[in-house]
This record gives sequence, C-alpha cells and structure tokens, in this order.
Amino acid sequence: MTKPIHCDILKPTEFNLRCCADYLRRGEVLGVPTETVYGLAGNALCDTTVRKIFAVKGRPFIDPLIVHFSSIDEAAVHVDFSDCARALAKQFWPGALTLVLPKKSSIPDIVTAGLPSVAIRIPGHRIFRSLLDQVDFPLAAPSANPFGYVSPTRAMHVKATLGERIPAVLDDGPCKYGVESTIIDLRNPNMPAILRPGPISASALGIKINVDSDNATDKDSQLAPGMLTQHYSPKAKITLFPHSSGAGVVMPGSAIVYNKKPPKKALQAHTYWLSENGDLEEIAHNLFMVIQKLDQAGYTQLLIERTQETDIGIAVNDRLGRSATQSE
Ligand code: TXA
Ligand code: MG
Repeated sequence: MTKPIHCDILKPTEFNLRCCADYLRRGEVLGVPTETVYGLAGNALCDTTVRKIFAVKGRPFIDPLIVHFSSIDEAAVHVDFSDCARALAKQFWPGALTLVLPKKSSIPDIVTAGLPSVAIRIPGHRIFRSLLDQVDFPLAAPSANPFGYVSPTRAMHVKATLGERIPAVLDDGPCKYGVESTIIDLRNPNMPAILRPGPISASALGIKINVDSDNATDKDSQLAPGMLTQHYSPKAKITLFPHSSGAGVVMPGSAIVYNKKPPKKALQAHTYWLSENGDLEEIAHNLFMVIQKLDQAGYTQLLIERTQETDIGIAVNDRLGRSATQSE
C-alpha cells in the first residue's frame, strides 16, 4: 500500500454524513456501521473503487463482495428476483439477511469474483441507510477487517486494523447483532441453501432449506468462495470446549471465556464471560469484541466455551469453529 493516511472517527451528524457521501462519490472506501458488523463500503458499480476495497482488506479477488441497496426496486435493476426471493426480501428487509441471486451485467464481474450470481442485502441500520439514500449507487461492503481476522463490531476495531488505509470510519457505537448476516443461496429458488448462518435462523426463515449444501466449505468454493474453514483468526490460539462444561487445565498465558458469568466461588484469574446470564443475543453481540480485547491484551491462548446450538447460537458456534480451525 501507499503511505499511511489519517483516519477520522466520525460521529454520524448530518454534516459528517454529507462528507462521507462525498467521499463515496469520489471513489473512496469508508468504515460504516451496520446492524451486524462494521462494513468497508464503496461504490459497487465502480471497478476502481471495488479494487480498492479488495486492496484495503488484503482480500483475494476470488472472494466476492456483498452489495447493499436502499430498496428492492433499486436492487431489481441489477439482479433477477424469483418469487421466493421477493417474498423473503419483503419479509426480512431491511435486515440481516443476504440473498445470492443471478446478477445482471450492470454489476461488475470483479464484485462477484466472476460468478454469475451476486450476494445482496438491504441493511436495517439507520446510518448506513442514510448514506445509501444520499448516493445514487449501491455500496459493496465486506466486513471491515483485514482478510482472515475477526470482524469489527466497534468503530475503534476498524481504525485499529485498517486506519492507515481509509480516510474515515462512521461511529455509531457497537453493532446490534455482532455477527454477520445470514446468507441464503437462491440461485435455484427451488433449493434454497444456507451458505452462512447469522442473526436470522433457518427456522425463522420459514422455508424449506436444502441441507446438502448447508455450511459450505472450501471444497464448495464455487458455491460460497469466502466461507473458508480458516477464518476469524486472532493472533491468540483459540481452543473450544463444550457448552456447559469446564475448560480443563489452564496454562499460563491463557484466558478462559464462558458463555455466562460464573458463580463467585468458581471465579479464577483470567476468566471472562460473554453475557451475564447466558442470553444468546448478548453472547453474539459481545463475541468478536471480547476476542479482540483479549487478543490485544496479549493472551496467547483463548479457551472459549461453545454455545447452545439454537437461533443466533448457531452463528456463534460457526464463527468459533472457523476461528479455532487454524490453531488446532
Ligand atoms: O453482515 C454482513 O453480511 C456484513 C455487513 C458489512 O453487511 N458483510 C459481510 O461481508 O460479512 P463479507 O464480505 O465479510 O462476507 C460475505 C460472504 C463471503 O463469505 C463471500 O464469499 C460470500 O459472502 N459471497 C459474496 N458473494 C457471493 C456470491 N455471489 N456467491 C456466494 N457467496 C458469496
Ligand atoms: Mg467478513
């Protein structure tokens, strides 16, 4: 990359939103808050800007980007909606659901890694929506972390890792969900498949999911190129232990992370928790923040409890599994 630039953390005032919209019109890429994680946003229809997104993240061009629209009508200019896709869009957008649909030629091939399909969503976050309303193009936005690292749920996470490469991050505090959107493959509307579990669970979707291609892995690289089994990896080695069990022997340099606050008598040094009482939404909300905090505190190993395999807990276990793979 070229020489470091100064990155401003901007509060989402009307003035700052107008400045950010100007940056985007000029082809810049910015950190933006969403209801899932912070995104690295830029003009999805501009080849040069999309290349900049890949460069800033250090992401390989084989891993396609999600495109964010302000309305279904705007999206319909660029993708083919089946009846099933339209029904899901009407029910869950704006929100944490991404649909993979056949693309039209107006979406540059670089966005989709040359695939004939594109992943799209209409975000629910007020600030992101306001930006989309101010510009007349959709925004490509992967999570705003260096490729392979933990996703950011705070503006300071973005500044700490990508701050020398982007001019600004809009700061609207912690992200509501804390894990990325649910991705559904709808290229064949008769066989919807979950490519990535997220805040909207399979049961909430209310459609029959094709389980054969559920949880795509590296071997399905054409199907979900970015769902690598190794991902979300901090510097510290992550080791998982079963839900509702103990962490076993704790070595020096290790931190233990439980789902909920342990009783006082069981509290030892280097013990942390993701929620007060085991609430799944709270666990998801805090997951990436706690991993980043402990990683930066210099722990060399994080022993993390798996969570309940229901609702958003499925997404939490998915991310934990991927973050642990590299170190096992
Ligand atoms: O919540 C989210 O989805 C966040 C916020 C910023 O919107 N974005 C996000 O983007 O998580 P990213 O790029 O970090 O993850 C997108 C995933 C990748 O695994 C990518 O491979 C997959 O979506 N993907 C994108 N386009 C695809 C396509 N055409 N077909 C299959 N998978 C696709
Ligand atoms: Mg990501």
